[in-house]
Amino acid sequence: MDNVEVDLHRDRAIGVTDPRLFGAFIEHLGRCVYGGIFEPGHPSADAHGFRGDVLALVRELAPTIMRYPGGNFVSGYDWEDGVGPAASRPRRLDLAWLSTETNQFGTNEFIDWCRLADTEPMLAVNLGTRGADAARRLVEYCNHPGGTTLSDLRRAHGWKLPHGVKFWCLGNEMDGPWQMEAKTAQEYGRIATEAAKMMKWVDPAIELAACGSSGRNMPTFGAWEDTVLEHTFDQVEFISLHTYINNYAGDTAAFLASPDLMDRFIDEIVAIADAVAIRRGSSKRIMLSFDEWNVWYRTRRTPAARTKPGWPVAPEILEEIYNMEDALVFGGACISLLNHADRVKAGCLAQLVNVIAPIMTETGGPTWRQTIFHPFSHFSNLGRGRVLRARIKSPTYSASYFDPRGAQDLSFPLPEVPYLKLAAVHDEGAGALTLFALNRSLTEEMPLRVNAGGFSGLVVDQALQLHDTDLKAVNTKDHPDRVKPSALAGVRVEGNTLTATLLPASWNVIRVMVS
Ligand code: AHR
Repeated sequence: MDNVEVDLHRDRAIGVTDPRLFGAFIEHLGRCVYGGIFEPGHPSADAHGFRGDVLALVRELAPTIMRYPGGNFVSGYDWEDGVGPAASRPRRLDLAWLSTETNQFGTNEFIDWCRLADTEPMLAVNLGTRGADAARRLVEYCNHPGGTTLSDLRRAHGWKLPHGVKFWCLGNEMDGPWQMEAKTAQEYGRIATEAAKMMKWVDPAIELAACGSSGRNMPTFGAWEDTVLEHTFDQVEFISLHTYINNYAGDTAAFLASPDLMDRFIDEIVAIADAVAIRRGSSKRIMLSFDEWNVWYRTRRTPAARTKPGWPVAPEILEEIYNMEDALVFGGACISLLNHADRVKAGCLAQLVNVIAPIMTETGGPTWRQTIFHPFSHFSNLGRGRVLRARIKSPTYSASYFDPRGAQDLSFPLPEVPYLKLAAVHDEGAGALTLFALNRSLTEEMPLRVNAGGFSGLVVDQALQLHDTDLKAVNTKDHPDRVKPSALAGVRVEGNTLTATLLPASWNVIRVMVS
């Protein structure tokens, strides 16, 4: 491949990453909670039943905010079922995942777990089968200090101090027909506005995300955001967006190109949100909460992959096994998020454990890192700071990404996909510049040259790559480290120029100290 050139400058920044960009998601779904983060009786479990081995990996992964309790689950959830003495909590049918919910883990346990995992809680309220009243009551239960029936109930349950939950989601994917009590944009816009208003009356310090489209392939995409924001504009800080990338077509080149559609999705939502602001003559800017994103397809389309018969408790569903190429695409998605640091101010990898997750467990057994664990951990641990605008001169290829929409299948043409996808983050405090670089060529090494304008004294601090000659390689219980980062040799600096050679189909992280 010809030389690939990147020009960036210390003074040209896109924006500063918000700490909430590096979040993840825990849903009452399959073995994410039960057998995942919570398993009383497991050899590593503490007195609460929280698995210590999982917590250790979560700390290494370093998610900064955690969304809970769903997902589709939240649209049928009565939060009252999950608080109070565990022995008297009800067992319920969960219509989202056709399972039995035992409610042995609920809001208070989640808050305790977040404190241990050093992550901020993000709660979603049920705007499917419930509404504004249940939502404002949950805010009162969680955040009001005391002296009212609901806040004193929390205190009686053992949590004297308010939880102080700041970030709240107004429902989940309310545009999706699969959602319990799905709504039109008009219906949802009205309910979300009323819920938001009352929730903020209870606690004016909270921040709210309205549901955007559950995918760019939704037939209502665009019109949905426009209508919902017309209703909720004055009440919310965020609009959400969700993306699950697939390789149904078995076309690895197109799969690797597809994070570019996330860039497009973000730009489109920013345009719609800003158009709403402009129509209203408002200088307020709605930020984006990318609160579900990942690769997900193998355990997705057929009901048999999503549910198990007989209303089981914590069934093994959506246990996607991630391979090497998934990790590359996942890394591409991390780069897309970083490169929109000015507007995407929250993000949640969906999900955290067992269910389309970077961390796997065996119930009663060990835990291990899936391939996608590695790019996320790099993204979260090294991606904090000022994201610089990089001008990339790279050869390109063309691809067509296949994205199913119900019975109708869509193809999105991607005519000019640069082989290099890259984000550059300057951490001023640490005096470091980190490059996240994906070589999307399946066959050719990439000679990379980065001109880092405005920086001097470059010293290579870390250089890692994730690469495997077998793109289908996976990590398993018996081979947990089949795919793991290795040193990237041959990174050189001279003046403010850095050169490296990136292997075909590789994810690379290069951190240089700068002055
Ligand atoms: O993350 C799995 C599911 O995907 C979530 O419950 C839902 O919001 C989305 O459709």
